[in-house]
Amino acid sequence: VEHFFRSEDLKGKKAIVTAGPTYEAIDPVRFIGNHSSGKMGFAIAEELYLRGADVILITGPTSQQVAYKGIQVKHVVSADEMYDAAVHAFDGAAIAVMSAAVADYKPVQAAVEKIKKKQEAWSIDMVKNKDILLQLGQQKKAGQFLMGFALETHNEKENALAKLKTKNADAIVLNSLNDKDAGFGVDTNTVTIFHQSGNETKVSLKPKKEVASDIVSFIIKHLHV
Ligand code: CTP
Ligand code: CA
Repeated sequence: VEHFFRSEDLKGKKAIVTAGPTYEAIDPVRFIGNHSSGKMGFAIAEELYLRGADVILITGPTSQQVAYKGIQVKHVVSADEMYDAAVHAFDGAAIAVMSAAVADYKPVQAAVEKIKKKQEAWSIDMVKNKDILLQLGQQKKAGQFLMGFALETHNEKENALAKLKTKNADAIVLNSLNDKDAGFGVDTNTVTIFHQSGNETKVSLKPKKEVASDIVSFIIKHLHV
């Protein structure tokens, strides 16, 4: 028996979260991926659940395990699979948080057989993946709160604000990579949340679980009712 307290802040509300990396197949044994641990996305999904939401977590390959059985987990591998799952789940969702580190490009075509080593140099033709956040921003209806993430190494604020606008998000969480205790793989994070109203909320360095709690409190505060 699990013992935990769920508040009623988000009772009856559907929330979807994307998390983790995506893997883009090169051939049956190789892929292009990234170092996303999924920790931030899982923590946000768990926090949304504890605040009473019906949560669907769409995750790429990670070693994370969800803490509560009540969270519906959909496992995907590629960006295309994550796109289909997210677009499908967005219907009727009050909240969508896109925290996945989606691969920007995929090989034009995955080879059916394992590619053999031949010439000294080798390159792979790649095409852009569909942008899930951009798509949800386009299909968003009144009453749906859409949050994205941004990972920047320079012109952080400017780039985060550009993503907020282009992708029609309600808020963007900027991950600061300039702090060695923040970001990929580690248990702590420091972020700034930019809201479409122009307000800016800074969350100082703390455990990812606490950052998730602050992010969900921010969402609840800015939910259009
Ligand atoms: N995102 C997405 N689908 C993609 C690429 C990104 O849903 N194919 C989402 C991410 O989950 C994140 C936001 O878009 O919430 C920003 O991702 P990021 O990689 O920072 O920005 P990009 O738009 O991909 O631009 P760039 O990588 O060039 O900075
Ligand atoms: Ca990207």
